[in-house]
Amino acid sequence: LGESQGSASDDLGTRLYEQLAYYRARAPQYDLWAERRDTFDRGELNSPWHDEKRTLRRALDLFEPHGRVLEIAGGTGQWTERLIRHTALLTVLDAAPEPLEINRRRIRRHTRMVRYVNTDFFTFETDERFDNVFFSYFLSHVPPDLFAEFWHRVRRLLKPRGRVFFIDNLPSTRAAELDPEETADDLSVLRQADGRTFRVFKILWHPDELRRTLSRLGWDARVHPTGDYFFWGEGRLRDDGPQGSVPHP
Ligand SMILES: C[S@@+](CC[C@H](N)C(=O)[O-])C[C@H]1O[C@@H](n2cnc3c(N)ncnc32)[C@H](O)[C@@H]1O
Repeated sequence: LGESQGSASDDLGTRLYEQLAYYRARAPQYDLWAERRDTFDRGELNSPWHDEKRTLRRALDLFEPHGRVLEIAGGTGQWTERLIRHTALLTVLDAAPEPLEINRRRIRRHTRMVRYVNTDFFTFETDERFDNVFFSYFLSHVPPDLFAEFWHRVRRLLKPRGRVFFIDNLPSTRAAELDPEETADDLSVLRQADGRTFRVFKILWHPDELRRTLSRLGWDARVHPTGDYFFWGEGRLRDDGPQGSVPHP
């Protein structure tokens, strides 16, 4: 965990707690930020952001997440709203109750069939197996020390031949223009919410590097940049399983 590894405030559990505290405090503003409205409106910079989001939505529609679907870290429901177009068997998990409550309110207008689970993904246990597992903007918040564990857990949750679809941020200077108040290093970003500052893990993967790393973990994945801001990926486990050790990004 970088230079300050070992100090009490850098203990992994403390960092994850702080990250979660950020999303709890941020819940009321999250949709304004994601949709670039109000104080997050960046004028002409908004339009490529929205165009690329349309590309993501098209990619998800073409992927067709049917059957039993698990959304990890579903947050306020930006993507839950899209997933319910494809499945009536959706489970949405998030460790923070505040965004989940916003998600519930948003989705209740369309269906009452979604199951919500308020728990930490890294302790989540179930006998259920899913046809598709979806996560958006969560992989970048998974610290290097938990990366392999994350994918191992996803693997255990999938049915044989089950698939994953994921979305995240590209490393890009344009993204930094959108949120210039944030300061970042290779692994973290400092973010404000509720008058407080939080340190959040933010690991920005290059699509090729992510694909190669996933291949070493036994996944056959494709990762596609949408332009400047985002990438999406889809994959499933290879039959031959993981190979060798997995380096940190
Ligand atoms: C960047 S938001 C993404 C939300 C949503 N997927 C979206 O695309 O808008 C990250 C989400 O991860 C959730 N989260 C953080 N740590 C978690 C954990 N250990 N287990 C489950 N959810 C977690 C936060 O509460 C937050 O809702």
